[in-house]
Amino acid sequence: MTDGILNVALPKGRLGDAAYSIFEKAGYPCPSIKENSRKLIFENPEAGCRYFWVKPSDVAIYVERGAADVGVAGKDIIDEYTPDVYELLDLGIGRCRMAVAGPKDRKDDPFRRLLVATKFVNIAKRYYAGKGRDIDIIRLNGSIELAPILGLSDVIVDIVETGTTLRENDLEVKEEIAPISARLIANKASFRFKNDAVARLSSRIGECLRGEDK
Ligand code: PRP
Repeated sequence: MTDGILNVALPKGRLGDAAYSIFEKAGYPCPSIKENSRKLIFENPEAGCRYFWVKPSDVAIYVERGAADVGVAGKDIIDEYTPDVYELLDLGIGRCRMAVAGPKDRKDDPFRRLLVATKFVNIAKRYYAGKGRDIDIIRLNGSIELAPILGLSDVIVDIVETGTTLRENDLEVKEEIAPISARLIANKASFRFKNDAVARLSSRIGECLRGEDK
């Protein structure tokens, strides 16, 4: 869609709702988005924006390939897929951490190959390569915490937000890998060819986040 409107990919779910509130506050409202419907595209030509609801892990793909000019993606997704996009702002929402977790009573033997279950395969590989540790990855798609409990893996690399899932399954954080939060990302061509619109959006959101929008 190459009209003058900014195309924004938002992650479906709680993070996307919080992100939309920031965009709305920054002067990019689209009231129809709040209708409870199964529609995926909402636009407000007066405000110059069109929103798409996208699976959170797909936002970076839409933005990288130019189907969206900008989007909101977790730092976890950016670190995992390393899309060729610009990271413009830390939105300060969706805060959590990427961590290694395992059973409370597990003692690590650093000379043994470690079995790591995760959906963040690249993050896990990079992290352990940096430590010079040999690992085998078991790629899972969800409920990662089950893997060490059932003996499928030694540890997991996953997102920890409140820590409740770990606690309720007798697991604990063993090592912190990185703090995570949602980022405003931009397509590289849009940043060049729609620079006024992208720069305006980014600076208005920045003002909102700093509380300068009053
Ligand atoms: C994520 C993550 C953990 C959980 C952490 O799972 O994979 O399981 O949230 O949150 P907590 O520290 O607040 O308990 P998600 O809900 O995305 O589902 P998943 O099992 O499909 O990954």
